[in-house]
Amino acid sequence: MMVGTTRWDVVTGDITRCAVDAIVNAANNSLLGGGGVDGAIHRAAGPELLEECRGIGCCPTGEARITRGYRLPARYVIHSVGPIWQGGNQGERDLLASCYSHSLSLARHHGLRRVAFPAISTGVYGYPKAQAAKVAARAVVEVLHRDTDTFDQILFVCFDEDNRALYDAAVRDAVAGD
Ligand code: APR
Repeated sequence: MMVGTTRWDVVTGDITRCAVDAIVNAANNSLLGGGGVDGAIHRAAGPELLEECRGIGCCPTGEARITRGYRLPARYVIHSVGPIWQGGNQGERDLLASCYSHSLSLARHHGLRRVAFPAISTGVYGYPKAQAAKVAARAVVEVLHRDTDTFDQILFVCFDEDNRALYDAAVRDAVAGD
């Protein structure tokens, strides 16, 4: 799907294999690795990634920090800390949206034009997937409408077909303005 000059795709796959400028990691506040996509990214990137993360220190929820990608095919990793779902009345929606907007502004600042996202907060952090998909898609479309001609490709990389269908529908709705 095109938004202006940006190609926006929703795929099923392993984000550690994406040869893009930056993959986004669903990290935790310590940035010291974990399970899920965080664990997969650290395993694929190798120990230097953890070393660089150690030097950064903590990252507040809703924000993002950038490191090199080391052994990953992606040049950089943008570590973003999603909210833990607590029922929806603790600012989770805005925090999740800011993961996407902060990650894209970091990418823009570093001149990175191809960015891949996982489904942030929808695993261990328990964010209901359909709601998370809508928040993610709306946050990204807002950036693409504002920063036109900044990104060549945005990828939502889902780990399973169910999530892909949810994120694909959410992207179509967001682009259609629903
Ligand atoms: N590629 C793409 N997506 C993946 C991959 C992968 N290799 N591995 C897992 N996922 C998907 C999960 O299926 C889920 O849909 O990423 C989404 C996010 O799930 P988590 O990785 O559990 O991340 P999150 O829910 O944001 O929880 C973050 O989990 O791993 C720890 O250190 C991390 O404490 C942090 C917490």
